[in-house]
Amino acid sequence: MSEAFAFRNALGQFATGVTIVTTTDADKAPVGVTASSFNSVSLDPPLVLWSLAKTAHSMPAYQNSGGFNVHVLAAHQSDLSNQFARPGDDKFAGIDWTLCDQGFPLLPEHAALFRCRTHFQYEGGDHIIFVGEVIDFETSDLPVLVFQGGSYADAKSKIKPEAPTEPGIDLSRGQFTDEFLLYLISRAHFQTSFPTRRACQKLGMSEPEYFCLSLLSMNGSLPEDEIVYRLEHTGHSPDAEIFARLDRKRWITRGDTISISPEGRETFIKLLAHSKALEEQILKHFTDEELGQAATFLKKIIDITGSDIPELW
Ligand SMILES: Cc1cc2nc3c(=O)[nH]c(=O)nc-3n(C[C@H](O)[C@H](O)[C@H](O)COP(=O)(O)O)c2cc1C
Repeated sequence: MSEAFAFRNALGQFATGVTIVTTTDADKAPVGVTASSFNSVSLDPPLVLWSLAKTAHSMPAYQNSGGFNVHVLAAHQSDLSNQFARPGDDKFAGIDWTLCDQGFPLLPEHAALFRCRTHFQYEGGDHIIFVGEVIDFETSDLPVLVFQGGSYADAKSKIKPEAPTEPGIDLSRGQFTDEFLLYLISRAHFQTSFPTRRACQKLGMSEPEYFCLSLLSMNGSLPEDEIVYRLEHTGHSPDAEIFARLDRKRWITRGDTISISPEGRETFIKLLAHSKALEEQILKHFTDEELGQAATFLKKIIDITGSDIPELW
């Protein structure tokens, strides 16, 4: 192993966050690079630093613009990090960026933001070290992106679970608190299914109709009594009137068994898109580890409480 390679490897052992530092060039075009060299310098005055390779195409812009914005990336932004690590002019393509009052690009999402005036520039071997005076900053609760040994990793969420101070339920007084687990599960269900339920209402689709289409979409054709049985746990099993209504709307076809029609499938896919969009928004706020644990936890609850309910999906 060459000395230079070994040195890079050793430096890579130091885990850092990942930032995108933005500024504008002489033509006021947006400029940005991915940088893990960001670090704090001083609290009073508030100073930060980062370093840029002298070979970077964007070097003149940082040397002459007078300021920059440092975006600390969130755990879900590794693609964005890669986009700004490629040399080229189209790094901002597809990004909904704006300008701050200093005239430097702002990215729409970040775990933290430091808006800086360039305070000093130092020679640092094959890099230039930029020291910025922080004129404004923001922070969010998003878990951060971590870089170590040339790979990305997720950091734990900054939201620390608070120790429960009160018991979840007080039977004698008929009250429950925010720590009551079944309340939390039920509330999470209602809040996360709200966009889909509202979309169903707009389509004139009742809950039994929705559950029926959902079951048929996943399972193909099923006999009527099997559908009723499999949807028992929802409290919204379809009856003869619901099947007749689904038929009138041409969302199912009826024979010996019942199948979802092409129109029914198209309608159901539109509804599914609402859930998918919400899921994407929610998942951004969790690390892979947290999501794995949540999935295990929920599957276990479904198993424990559903022993007499047939396998649904
Ligand atoms: C995670 C990560 C961190 C990086 N950190 C730095 C850094 O601190 N300084 C630097 O000069 N380049 C760093 N780079 C490389 C630059 O982002 C890359 O060279 C970029 O293409 C420079 O853009 P430009 O040539 O358009 O100016 C990093 C790349 C990655 C993927």
